[in-house]
Amino acid sequence: MKALVLAGGFGTRLRPLTLNTPKPIVPIFGRPFLCHQIDLLKQVPDVDEIILSLNYHPDRIEAVLGHGQDAGLPIRYVVEPEPLGTGGAIKFAEPYLDGTTIVFNGDVLTETDLAALVERHRARDARATIVLAPVENPARYGLVETDGEGNVTRFVEKPDPTQITCNTINAGIYVLEPDTFDRIPAATKYSIERRYFPSLVERGETFAAFVERGYWLDIGTPAAYRQAHRDIFDGRCRTGCAALAGPGETMVSASASVAPTARLLAPSFVGPGATVHPGAEVGPHAVLGDGSVVGTAARVRDSIVWPESIIGTDATLDGAIVGHRCRIGDHACLGPGVVLGDDSTLTPHTRFGEAPTTP
Ligand code: GDD
Ligand code: MG
Repeated sequence: MKALVLAGGFGTRLRPLTLNTPKPIVPIFGRPFLCHQIDLLKQVPDVDEIILSLNYHPDRIEAVLGHGQDAGLPIRYVVEPEPLGTGGAIKFAEPYLDGTTIVFNGDVLTETDLAALVERHRARDARATIVLAPVENPARYGLVETDGEGNVTRFVEKPDPTQITCNTINAGIYVLEPDTFDRIPAATKYSIERRYFPSLVERGETFAAFVERGYWLDIGTPAAYRQAHRDIFDGRCRTGCAALAGPGETMVSASASVAPTARLLAPSFVGPGATVHPGAEVGPHAVLGDGSVVGTAARVRDSIVWPESIIGTDATLDGAIVGHRCRIGDHACLGPGVVLGDDSTLTPHTRFGEAPTTP
């Protein structure tokens, strides 16, 4: 059985982080995001190959993941000549499939029991089975209505307010039967959400729902990307927790160097080769990437610092994401929501996104 991961999007909402680092390999506690999905797919005994459907910077993804030697499952790369949309990408990968297939959006962090999902699909003899997640506001997702027997009765991608009739959305995880792909035109842009799913309902084919009540998050925005780290830190999501000593704990890599007068507030993560200078305060919820440096008396909380970035003396990061190799000047102050792309340099005393203070 093949698992097909759709990972060819541009990651627009995560820019500027994704200008050099495609969304499938943005680090979560220093580990490429897709590795967490691969861990989940490995739990399905039938899966014997992962097919990555790519388009944007495929070379960078292949350089990181290789052919699956570290992942423990062979990885095949299928690269569309141009973005064909979610359905077009599946059609393009069809020659490499061999029957019932697990399809995954490449940006969802979840603990879904995939083996149980496949079992349900088979028990229902479904043409397609879709995982649903309950969310507060379905507007950014695909809204999915079901009947009392767990069949999908309506699919509306990015519903407008008048179309929101329930709170269950498409979690971006499916089991599909390739013989239903005959309706997808080859080499044509085609959305699985806007066309293929509605067509299953229109034709009265068995389209089953599998409701996931465990952890689920689309990491595709800066706020969600920070949320993913917080959720793993706090034990709400157990995927990726291996990077930590345990929920709520601080993990300091053996090759990191932390000055005795620096304070580490749990939970925090200090990656390999990172340096924390005297009097600095790191945490809670701080992630320091490989080789990053936190200057004397600087503060980093609820923030993610990518590898090789340097935070100056007495600088403050609170709710920020800092890309690779940035230079944050001394005494600079970055507040909630700030996202810096790779190689940004900030002059000392720069202020960005600070919480408003009363005059
Ligand atoms: N190969 C390929 N080609 N992959 C693509 C393409 C393409 O043209 N377009 C998007 N993808 C990949 C993205 O990389 C991502 O992993 C996945 O398909 C979904 O695309 P997003 O751009 O992240 O979509 P979304 O988050 O707005 O909505 C989708 O996910 C929601 C759940 O997170 C939809 O499937 C919604 O229905 C769903 O609720
Ligand atoms: Mg998404």
